[in-house]
Amino acid sequence: MSVTIISGGFWGDEGKGKVVAYLAYHDQVAIAARAGVGPNAGHTIEWQGERVVMRQVPCGFVAPEARLLIGAGVLVDPRVTLAEVERLHIGSRMGIDPQCTVILPEHIQIDRNSSHLREEVGTTGTGCGPANEARVRRDTLLAKDVAELKPFLSDVALEINQAIKAGKNVLIEGSQGFGLSLYHGTFPYVTSKDTTASAFCMDVGIGPTRVTDVMLVFKAYVSRVGGGPFATELPLEEVERRGWSEFGAVTGRRRRIGEFDYQIARRSTMINGATGICITCLDRRYAEAFGAQRLEDLPSEAREFIEKVEQETEVPVTLISTGPQYEHIIDLRGN
Ligand code: IMP
Ligand code: MG
Repeated sequence: MSVTIISGGFWGDEGKGKVVAYLAYHDQVAIAARAGVGPNAGHTIEWQGERVVMRQVPCGFVAPEARLLIGAGVLVDPRVTLAEVERLHIGSRMGIDPQCTVILPEHIQIDRNSSHLREEVGTTGTGCGPANEARVRRDTLLAKDVAELKPFLSDVALEINQAIKAGKNVLIEGSQGFGLSLYHGTFPYVTSKDTTASAFCMDVGIGPTRVTDVMLVFKAYVSRVGGGPFATELPLEEVERRGWSEFGAVTGRRRRIGEFDYQIARRSTMINGATGICITCLDRRYAEAFGAQRLEDLPSEAREFIEKVEQETEVPVTLISTGPQYEHIIDLRGN
C-alpha cells in the first residue's frame, strides 16, 4: 500500500506528467488524484505515440483501471476539463469534488487585463489567481453549481480516504513547483497558493499522517516562466549552445533556463519532507544517458551528478527519467 505525493522541486515544468504516468501505470494505482492550483499547469506526457498536454485530468489516466479525481482545493475550468474528458474518453472514471472552485470567464479577463498580474508577475492568464481571490472572498461558484459538471461530481476526499483504508495504491499529482509557492516561494513572483506536499494533502482532503511517500521532482537543469529571481539563470546563447531551450506547454512562452540550483533543492526537499527524489531530463544534460534503464548504463558524469544531488539534499534519488517515453526510466525504488 502506498500513498504517494508528486511535487515539483523548482518552478514547475520539471516533467511531473511523465513521472506520474510512469508511476500510475507501473504501480497500477487505484486512484490518481490531481492536486495543485488548476489549469495554469500543463503536464506533458507521451502516450501511445501521441504527445498529450494535461491541464486538469490527472496524468494517471494511463492506468486503465484508475479512478481519476480532482480534489476540492483545485480550480476547475469547466471548458478545459470537459475537453480533456471527451478527448480521452475517460468520463466514467472521472470524479470532481463538488467543492472545487470554478474558473469563470470574468476571472480570465481580470487575469489578462491586470498589468500587475500579466506584466509584472507574468501569470499564465488562465484566471487562477482571480478565481482563488473570489474563493477567499467567499463569493463565487463551485463545481456543484455548474450543470455540465454534474455527471462527474463525487466526494473526492471520501473516495481517497476509503481507498487508503482498503490498502490500495493512491497517487496524488501536485502541480507547479516549490519556488512558485505563495508562502515559501519568491513572492510576489509566485502563483496564488502553496505548491508543496502539505498543500497537496489539503487539496484532496487527506491528513499528513496518511502519506507514505513524497516524491520530489527536479529537472536536471532549471526552468522558470514569468518574472522573478533566478540565481542560476544562463544567458540565451549559452542555453541554446547546451540545447536546453524550452517553451511553455500552456502559454507557448520561452522559458528562462539555468543550471541546477542545489541551494533551492535543499530547501525544497526540506519543506516538502521529500522521501525520494526524481531527476528528469537527464538525457538533455548528458546526451549519452538517453533511454538508459539501468544506473550502470549512465555515463560517469551523470552518475556523479546524481550522487551530488543525494549528498546535497540527503535524500535518495529513486527515479531517473532519461527520455520522454514511458520506458525511458531508471527505477531505483526498493533498492
Ligand atoms: P499564475 O499561476 O497563472 O497566476 O502565474 C503565476 C506565476 O506562476 C507565473 O510566473 C507563471 O509563469 C507561473 N506558473 C503558473 N503555473 C505554472 C506551471 O504549471 N509551470 C510553470 N510556471 C507556472
Ligand atoms: Mg508545465
